[in-house]
Order: sequence, then C-alpha cells, then structure tokens
Amino acid sequence: MEFPIHRPRRLRRTESLRRMVRETRLSVDQLVLPLFVVPGESVDNPVASMPGVRQLSIDKTVAECSEVFALGIPAVILFGIPESKDAEGTEAYDENGIIPRAVRAIKREIPELVVITDVCLCEYTDHGHCGVIVDGDVDNDPTVELLAREALVHAAAGADIVAPSDMMDGRVDAIRELLDEEGFENTPILSYAAKFASSFYGPFRDAAESTPQFGDRRSYQMDAANGDEALREVEMDLEEGADMVMVKPALAYLDVIWRVKQSFGVPVAAYQVSGEYAMIKAAAANGWIDESRVMMESLLAIRRAGADFILTYFAKQAARLLATG
Ligand code: PBG
Repeated sequence: MEFPIHRPRRLRRTESLRRMVRETRLSVDQLVLPLFVVPGESVDNPVASMPGVRQLSIDKTVAECSEVFALGIPAVILFGIPESKDAEGTEAYDENGIIPRAVRAIKREIPELVVITDVCLCEYTDHGHCGVIVDGDVDNDPTVELLAREALVHAAAGADIVAPSDMMDGRVDAIRELLDEEGFENTPILSYAAKFASSFYGPFRDAAESTPQFGDRRSYQMDAANGDEALREVEMDLEEGADMVMVKPALAYLDVIWRVKQSFGVPVAAYQVSGEYAMIKAAAANGWIDESRVMMESLLAIRRAGADFILTYFAKQAARLLATG
C-alpha cells in the first residue's frame, strides 16, 4: 500500500467522486428537536444563552410541531416547565400537568409526529434536583417510583416514546413494569443510559429553569472520566428493558457513542446538548467560524461515531440545509 501506486487523493478529486465513496450520511430522518413547554398562552420567550431556542406555551408548541413535521423531522422531545414547583415535583406525575396537556394537543393536530417526553423531576422540583431529597442527596428508590408514575402519565396522554433522563438506578425496570401493568406495553423506552455530569448543560438549565439550588448532579450523573462504566450502565438499562439508549453529551463523548454502538448494536441516540449548541452559535455570531458548516460537520461526526439519531437544537436549521443542499 505504498506511494506512488496508491494515491488516496484520486478519489477526492471531484464532488461526484467524493459523494460516491462517502461513508457516513446525515438525513433529516435522524434528527429530533428538543422543545421547552411553558404554561400560559401565546408565550414565546427567547432563551438568551441559546439563540434561536424559545420557551413556548402549548398553543405555540403545536404550531412549532407543525413546522417541524413539514420540514420532514420525524420527532420532537418535550421538556416541561410547570406552573409551580415543590419538593416532590408533584406536577411531573399529574395527568393534567404541562407535558400530558402538551402531548394531547400535539397528537390531536399532528398525529404522525413522534412525541418523545423527557422523564425527570428536575424541572418540577423547587430544589432543582432530579429526585426527592433525603439528607442532602437524591434518594434513589422513592424517586424511581415517582419517575415511573411520570412516565405513565406521559404514555397515557399519548407519548410515543418515554425518555428517562434522571440517572437513578433501576428506573428503566420500574417504568417498564408500570407501563406494562397499565396496558402500555407498546410504549418504547429511550433511556438516557450514559448521561454524564457535564458542564455542557449550563444553557439548558436556563431554558428549563432547572438549575440545582444546592450542590450539583455528580452523585447521580456519570463521572466524565468513565467509559467502561458507561458500557455497564447501557448494559443494565438494556437488561431492564430499554429499547434504545442515549449517550449525552455528544461531541465530547464520541468514543462512548462508538463503544456503545459497537458493543450492543441497539439503536443509539446522541444528545448534542445546549452547551455544544451555544458554543457554535457564539463563535459564529462573532464571525469566528462558519455556522452552517460547523453544524453539519459536528452532526456528521456524531453519526460517524455510531449514533443512529441525534437530539439537536439545530434540527430545523439542519433539515432546511439538507433539503436545499
Ligand atoms: C434533565 C435534563 C438535562 C438535560 C436534558 N435532560 C439537564 C441536566 O441533567 O442537568 C440537558 C440537555 C441540554 O443541555 O441540552 N435532567
């Protein structure tokens, strides 16, 4: 395999040649748009740390979903900001809470759009942690029960997929059991299986109003240093009945995406999180990088690492670019 016999540049000479030998593709089918749903009507609040992202009331969310579906994007994932927060995150598992109401409204108007719901308590608790607090830390087992109830009200409202993002131990098992008991055996679970305690979530916490009021999430989300442990987390969630698994964040954890896909061969999602989005937006706003190109390159890299689909705030922007070339 030596020069001058082999000249890899031969296959890079024209765009048509490059298209023929391109190994990885990004399609609109692989994009999921996250949406933040807030109480009220006609509410459309821009999120300062995430240019282009807004908190929307249910009516505006439905309109946004119509636009998303018209662009060919198959799915959205919903995050809810409740009317009021309390220590147990009561609105999270209220059948008339913000998310069940949003799901019903979306499914009524755009039944073919896949509606994924994020199942977590941090947006609903007044302390901003992902579960109930006992002695200054999230108490695992009682939290798991509440998460299962939250997943159930989402499924009952018509959610197509429930996505637990809390990182409690045993929650996939508890959710699967309750869903099956209540007749929702066909509702898939997309588990945030390898979710790292990441500083890249900063802007999201502005959007979801879910910043922890004390401490941080390092007693439940994973240590950024751990790849082997990510595989064990994924394995456990699959054993507990997860249909799909997620790695989060994406760009700083491409090795984890790769290992999960290679090891298990199940559908793998990657979440290009708020901080990844904000960095690209900020650099582009300064004229330091080409926004569209960096967006597409990062999404392609996440696909190349093995992600089958990508949750990204760029979903609409990328869909438009994919449509026009
Ligand atoms: C809820 C949740 C978070 C994100 C998704 N689900 C925040 C967190 O764990 O602090 C982050 C998404 C993003 O940064 O875009 N637990």
